[in-house]
Amino acid sequence: IHSEIFPDSTIASKLVANEIATLIKQKQQEGNLCVLGLATGSSPIKVYEELVSLHKSGELSFSNVVTFNLDEYYPMDIEHQQSYYHFMHQHLFDHIDINPENINIPDGTVPLEEMDQYCIDYEMKIKQYGGIDFQLLGIGRTGHIGFNEPGSHPNSGTRIITLDHVTRSDASSDFNGMENVPKKAVTMGINTIMKSRRVLLLAWGHKKATVVKQTIEGQITPNIPASFLQQHKNTTIILDDEAASELT
Ligand code: F6R
Repeated sequence: IHSEIFPDSTIASKLVANEIATLIKQKQQEGNLCVLGLATGSSPIKVYEELVSLHKSGELSFSNVVTFNLDEYYPMDIEHQQSYYHFMHQHLFDHIDINPENINIPDGTVPLEEMDQYCIDYEMKIKQYGGIDFQLLGIGRTGHIGFNEPGSHPNSGTRIITLDHVTRSDASSDFNGMENVPKKAVTMGINTIMKSRRVLLLAWGHKKATVVKQTIEGQITPNIPASFLQQHKNTTIILDDEAASELT
């Protein structure tokens, strides 16, 4: 598995945004859609900032872009300040020229009894667009990618999961207390992610150092779901010095 280490996340995020912009433009010239898999959380914020600034300066159009977000809390209203729907609009979609019909974010309002079908349809829709060209990922301290917590099967698809205690505790400050953090989430599966043609995983800061080491240098195991990426042919792990500090 390939990793690249940068002195800080700002420089790294600009390079990541440039790779995404280059892909979008290449697809534009070919007359094709560009299918992006997107993540929320703190890690991709500067990437989205850079993509917005490329758009504002007239260098980049998202007219041929289709997006599929990795996950959403469950249950979760779209108007909620902590919904991933809100996050994506605030950090990216409200500032670019993407067709709103091309935005796909798992819906945290679907009734539980309709969820199985909803998840099958989400997978089908990705397939109908020809699969994900480029998948952006962060990583949780549990080793989750998307919300594929420890125990996730490599063959898993989009489904409803129970969030790990560590993940809920990491989210508790955003929700003003652990008791307000949803207990479940809808997430793309490990297999959904593994089918992407290109994967970039971002990790910044010393809190990610241990899980980054386990992901890159450890055994491939469902205990660290991100370790499955060792079997993906076109993944790069983008790190700052702190996140890389435990690598040998
Ligand atoms: C978010 C997601 C999660 C986060 C991970 C890291 O859509 O899929 O896997 O990427 O929890 O979160 P941050 O970047 O906030 O450390």
